[in-house]
Amino acid sequence: MAQTAIRGTFFDFIDDPWKHVGEEHLAARFVRDGLLVADDGVIVAFGDYDDVVADYPDVDVTHILDRLITPGFIDGHIHFPQTRMLGAYGEQLLPWLQKSVFPEEMRYGDREYAEEGATRFFDTLLASGTTTCQAFTSSYPVTTEVFFDEAARRNMRVIGGLTGIDRFAPDEYLVTPESFYDDSTDLIERYSGAGRNLYAITPRFGLGASNELLEQCRRLKAEHPDLWVNTHISENPTECRDLLAAHPDCDDYLGVYEKYDLVGPKFSGGHGIWLSDDEFRRIAASGASVTFCPSSNLFLGSGLFRLGRATDPEHRVKLSFGTDMGGGNRFSMLNALEDAYKVGMLNNTLLDGSVNPRNQDLAEAERNKLSPYRAFYSLTLGAAEALYIDEWVGNFEVGKEADFVALDWTAGPPALEWHQSLLVDEDGPATVEDAATLLFGVMMVGDERSVDETWIMGARAYKKG
Ligand code: GUN
Ligand code: ZN
Repeated sequence: MAQTAIRGTFFDFIDDPWKHVGEEHLAARFVRDGLLVADDGVIVAFGDYDDVVADYPDVDVTHILDRLITPGFIDGHIHFPQTRMLGAYGEQLLPWLQKSVFPEEMRYGDREYAEEGATRFFDTLLASGTTTCQAFTSSYPVTTEVFFDEAARRNMRVIGGLTGIDRFAPDEYLVTPESFYDDSTDLIERYSGAGRNLYAITPRFGLGASNELLEQCRRLKAEHPDLWVNTHISENPTECRDLLAAHPDCDDYLGVYEKYDLVGPKFSGGHGIWLSDDEFRRIAASGASVTFCPSSNLFLGSGLFRLGRATDPEHRVKLSFGTDMGGGNRFSMLNALEDAYKVGMLNNTLLDGSVNPRNQDLAEAERNKLSPYRAFYSLTLGAAEALYIDEWVGNFEVGKEADFVALDWTAGPPALEWHQSLLVDEDGPATVEDAATLLFGVMMVGDERSVDETWIMGARAYKKG
């Protein structure tokens, strides 16, 4: 059995910080001098170095010095075949799809092109500290095969699936409901549960799906109730209006997916910007989740996700965060945190009593503030719970897979080290609050340069050059 032991300073979560307003550190676990031991990539011991080493006196220890070790980041919503076209100028969602997205995704019908894309996609994920993603592929089975094959080669836990669209795209990029059912069934048989691969039935979005395609999704979910369902929801105002015009029997966007029995545990809808309070209530009650994609929402001008409303304890919606790359213009979840923080601040301007006296809600304004605890929880344990993968990943509990990131809190733009030294002395973080302070610096001032090492199943998969 291959045994790995890592000694260093660890920071993970054991609870939801939104449940501990004013004392969010209670949701976190900080081990200043810790030891994590993994057998064949699975954590068998974790805790204070002195305590754990007593049980493993002969273990070979890798010491990671002057770093904060967190669980690997989970990107809940990303588009594998958009790797090359991120940062496309000038359009909002619907024209952007036609002009920039579909032409690039159509290149992924070619296996060689898809393979080159996959190498670059996974290399960039690992260099960004992302160890797990839930990804859209393309209308072509070959893109999905290449995605799963490359993830397996790197031993990464991923969720993905053939991405079905049968309206609102060039003819040669459309699936038919029957081909989508047949191809999905074939891919599920070959890839679902193989190694660390997990399969999501993936209708691209409501507006791009006929009733017949959604009916085939219902059939797939009924035949494979343990599978994930991944899609987009309530992203752009024009999209929402056009969708409801196509489904006059539905009151809202969520209602379209509910009509086809898709909403429940393991369902995630990306964006959710324009969801009503009632939709939040129904999502929360069903056990489904929303993926907040702040960089994309700003880049495409889609709107401001109501983070404080979604986290209302009356109807706490399960949340993961996503880059939505290429709708998001960065691969790094640290950039997503930076943008999420700014969205929260802007939401609070809208909630401010002096701007809108009827709308003031101090508790919601407090929940909009993305503290470092809420931020890093959302990339790790929170995302794992929202996506129903927390039996495998999300924190350093014994039995989980040893996927983690070593963050250099001084690496990033040249002045970052000086900035951090204003907040925490050179000996590094002595307390959980010190660690959270440094992590806030990493998310707001740092970027992927802060990611020094990324480990998958107890083996180093990336080291910054
Ligand atoms: N809605 C349907 N397809 C897409 C996509 O590729 N990106 C985003 N952001 N929204 C979508
Ligand atoms: Zn998307």
